[in-house]
Amino acid sequence: MKDTQEQLKLTLQEALDAAFGSDYSKVDPVLVAASNPKFGDYQANVALGLAKQLGQQPRAIAQQIVDKLDVSDICKPPEVAGPGFINLKLKTEYLEAQLKAIQGDPRLGVPQTNNPKRVIVDYPSPNIAKEMHVGHLRPAVIGDCLSRIVEFVGHKVERISHVGDWGTPFGMLIAYLEEAYPEALTTTETLNLGDLSSFYRQAKARFDADANFQQAARQAVVKLQAGDQKTLLAWKIVCQLSSRAYQVIYDLLEIAPFVERGESFYNALLPEVVEELDKKDLLVENQGAKCVFLEGFTNREGEPLPLIVQKSDGGYNYAATDLATIRYRVQVDKVQRVIYPVGIEQINHFAQIFQVGRKAGWITDDVEFVHAPFGLVLGENGQKLKTRSGEAVRLRDLLDGAIAHARADIENRIKEEAREETEEFVSNLAQVIGVSAVKYADLSQNRTSNYIFSYDKMLALKGNTAPYMVYAYVRTQGISREGNIDFEKLGADAPIVLRQETELTLAKHLLQLDEIISEVEKDLLPNRLCEYLYQLSDKFNKFYENCPVLKAEEPVRTSRLILCDLTARTLKLGLSLLGIRVVERM
Ligand code: ARG
Repeated sequence: MKDTQEQLKLTLQEALDAAFGSDYSKVDPVLVAASNPKFGDYQANVALGLAKQLGQQPRAIAQQIVDKLDVSDICKPPEVAGPGFINLKLKTEYLEAQLKAIQGDPRLGVPQTNNPKRVIVDYPSPNIAKEMHVGHLRPAVIGDCLSRIVEFVGHKVERISHVGDWGTPFGMLIAYLEEAYPEALTTTETLNLGDLSSFYRQAKARFDADANFQQAARQAVVKLQAGDQKTLLAWKIVCQLSSRAYQVIYDLLEIAPFVERGESFYNALLPEVVEELDKKDLLVENQGAKCVFLEGFTNREGEPLPLIVQKSDGGYNYAATDLATIRYRVQVDKVQRVIYPVGIEQINHFAQIFQVGRKAGWITDDVEFVHAPFGLVLGENGQKLKTRSGEAVRLRDLLDGAIAHARADIENRIKEEAREETEEFVSNLAQVIGVSAVKYADLSQNRTSNYIFSYDKMLALKGNTAPYMVYAYVRTQGISREGNIDFEKLGADAPIVLRQETELTLAKHLLQLDEIISEVEKDLLPNRLCEYLYQLSDKFNKFYENCPVLKAEEPVRTSRLILCDLTARTLKLGLSLLGIRVVERM
């Protein structure tokens, strides 16, 4: 109902103009959602702020505004309340017409931007020479969700994974490949190198046990950086092994396809970047290293902190690579917004590289570079999630655990309800619910905080969880099955009639999707959308408990069916933007 708000705002400004003269026609009417639905839907608080300026009581000011205010198309007669609030309550006919308008709209009233931008979402961007662990969950889930939302709004989104595919960690794996699978380097066929985790473990074991091997690993890094052909080939094979292993998990998580353009890609551009910084007089030599001094960052002694872009041995680091990335994204990709869903521990890194990017003139006022930081996944003891032996939990194990828990819940329910279901149904459902629960639990928290990973909580059928949301959807589909009604064929010209309080509440909530999406597109907080969907399920359940649907008389029956359909479609669309699939039965 963004349009409604806009219109009310303009009309309030016209009334201000009429009451106090044109000086007041641009004053912000301070229109907000009403604090208590008893008083209406919106309240305008402008009168309180004008008291001093006008030398009058706020209530008197509010009354003069109301006297000139004509919102009769949209609202019931406005009321002045409390110290000088103007309360506005939407008319039922207005709400009915608004709902009718979104009934035929596949976007459910969410407008498409008329200013589409080129956006890069930098995710999931793992460091690949490792096994996938719990730390890889959040960037994938949050990045996927933000991409979907920004794309839905109508921007041109490129998902680019800035994989950590270069440097020291590869030495060990390359050395191991050369030692254990020399034939991999002479054939053009892809060899079966086993799975990444055992490959990685074996390489690590060799590394820990043998000083000569460690020497070979260090040599491999030097040769890699020098561009040695055979080493490069070995590196490529290791990267492919890793990418393929990671892709299995991304597929399980149903992460939309992305392009891999990792650190190695920018390698050749690093000397240019340093040169350009030098030309722009931003470089300072500090103990042999090339640095840019930063504003607003100081060390413990209070001295300005340098950002190292080239080490004294000539090597480059993570920051240098990211500077090259910024430059490339602006100059070659011609991007207007870059979103980095990356852990909150990198908050300084991003603030620093963005600052240097601005100093260098790459980031101008018309491009937005934004870090969307997130917290850690914690175990039930409130500590970083670890296995019993103290290692980071493998992502695969985490997801398999969720699927197994979901399965147990489903089997219990089937038994309780004495239902007969096929194995295919059960395993499909367990996978969808298990994976959705993990994703939803992650997205429903404010992303900047840590959260506690708990199978019991995330799989609960009540509460702000994926199963609850999916279940609300299933309930709507149950109504369509029970009444043998095809929601898609509900009359385009059947009227919507809102009579009961719970119907009105549900209707108003349905009309707020556009506001939520537009907020999330700006502040990149998916938990707002989760909260919206949670409220929607809740409001739907209250409506369903209070208002008979199939047994109601016409025209109320069809009207209520339309409400069910709109709820179902809103849930389905909202969940799909979170990267979560619905099921028809559960
Ligand atoms: N590979 C990095 C890590 O795992 C994240 C990279 C994020 N993207 C970037 N452009 N720095 O910590």
